[in-house]
Amino acid sequence: MGTTAAIPPEVAARLRGARSITALTGAGVSAESGIPTFRDALTGLWARYRPEELATPEAFARNPSLVWGWYRMRREVVARAVPNPAHRALASLEAQVPRFTLVTQNVDGLHRRAGSERVIELHGSLARARCSREGTVLELWDETESETPSCPACGALLRPDVVWFGEPLPGEALRAAEIAARNCDLFLSIGTSNLVEPAASLPWRAVAAGAEVIVINVEMDGQRAGSGIYHLVGRAGELLPALIEAAWPAR
Ligand code: OAD
Repeated sequence: MGTTAAIPPEVAARLRGARSITALTGAGVSAESGIPTFRDALTGLWARYRPEELATPEAFARNPSLVWGWYRMRREVVARAVPNPAHRALASLEAQVPRFTLVTQNVDGLHRRAGSERVIELHGSLARARCSREGTVLELWDETESETPSCPACGALLRPDVVWFGEPLPGEALRAAEIAARNCDLFLSIGTSNLVEPAASLPWRAVAAGAEVIVINVEMDGQRAGSGIYHLVGRAGELLPALIEAAWPAR
């Protein structure tokens, strides 16, 4: 377990007293599973690839095979990854707290693999493909290195079922995430640079509705500070287990 010494008692008490928690996670939660984040200077995906060439509808229209190749590589990285203590801590929190909603920007599926059941995937999932014509969502599809996959029903091109830049988020997921942000008394923002809308507004919707916020990140650049906003600086894989241990010491 993580060292509870890093957890201020008032933060542990705040978690213990929470009746309704909404957690928003970003790539930082999966970093300790070996999955690259996006904006880390040297190792982030956007440091090595150009998002406009890979994660936009225009990129896909221009070169679907390049885009499928990139998502295939990312699926292979995820297939080799395992949930880390941060994912497992969030799954245990779901069982511990009366009302707990997990909203993730991640598309790696590791929260569900760690046992989280109620997961709102704001940016879709690498584990799904979608017919570019009918919108049908598939969990299994034929894919080879050379051929871009096509819809078994209508033959149109399949695309990864993830949100690309310039695209709207899945409406139902976004509505559920906004409701969860407005109806919690504690909001956890974990491992996200908080730069991409509309996810980045969720913590502030929670604050506007009277919630307090705990931010967990290895660095606090760009993270808002203020009364009722607690910053825990460090790795999510260490701080989340420590926070839960500090709030509910093992009996
Ligand atoms: P980013 O790469 O923008 O931010 C990752 C955050 O995690 C940074 O603030 C890091 O400091 C922090 N971090 C890194 N390792 C950590 C660790 N072990 N423990 C805690 N924090 C850690 O990723 P996101 O914020 O998830 O969207 O990016 C949001 C969206 O932008 C993604 O969903 C993706 C991206 O473009 C689309 O592609 C549409």
